[in-house]
Amino acid sequence: MLEILNVHKRFGSIEVLKGVSFKVKPGEFVAVFGPSGSGKTTLLNILATILHPDRGEVLIDGRNIARASEDFLTALRYDYIGYVYQSCKMINSLNLLDNITLPLIIKGESKSSRVRIAIELAEKLGLSDRLKNYPSQLSFGERKRALIGMVLCKKPKLILVDEPTANLDESNSRRVLELLDDFRQSHNSMLIVATHDSLVKEYATKIYTLTDGKIAH
Ligand SMILES: Nc1ncnc2c1ncn2[C@@H]1O[C@H](COP(=O)(O)OP(=O)(O)OP(=O)(O)O)[C@@H](O)[C@H]1O
Ligand SMILES: [Mg+2]
Repeated sequence: MLEILNVHKRFGSIEVLKGVSFKVKPGEFVAVFGPSGSGKTTLLNILATILHPDRGEVLIDGRNIARASEDFLTALRYDYIGYVYQSCKMINSLNLLDNITLPLIIKGESKSSRVRIAIELAEKLGLSDRLKNYPSQLSFGERKRALIGMVLCKKPKLILVDEPTANLDESNSRRVLELLDDFRQSHNSMLIVATHDSLVKEYATKIYTLTDGKIAH
């Protein structure tokens, strides 16, 4: 369970978040809509524990992350949270198979098990014929899909995805949303997606809009 209570965040003179509150239960798919600059990425960065709110609290399973130790946060980022950034950063010297299964390389998973997981994820993401390619040989949309695979192979309990369908056509957008939706249902994970894309409304169980620094239900 994730609880966001009265979160405020300011950058210099701009107050981006002015008291954001909402709760997410396991298995829910929350879509956060809002115009460009409304603070969607800022909110996801706070939930990912890489940015601290100025005021307010974020509780993960009842634990206030502002008061958690650095060791606890590291474990949380490593195992519990999966974050697909808005930008598509990958490791250029690794092919797609190794990029997708990078979290499993770090965990010491065998090559054969990584290959099996990568093949399965790539099929669902429409990347089967790309596994041997390097990031420079991939389009932005292909990299975005690969990053979603990379995050899901960790089996996170909290999945944060910034603009999952940006730069994708409708059929690939549906493919990505279906994969995310199936994953959160089968793993009972919390899924929070920041987006402009009304297609996401077909999949989300809750829809919020960020306007003027607050969440409208
Ligand atoms: N590190 C930062 N320093 C200063 N200002 C920032 C910083 N990060 C974000 N901002 C400002 O905060 C506001 C919200 O940015 P944010 O990226 O959260 O919006 P967004 O809703 O994700 O927009 P988009 O849909 O374009 O991705 C913007 O005005 C942005 O310029
Ligand atoms: Mg953004």
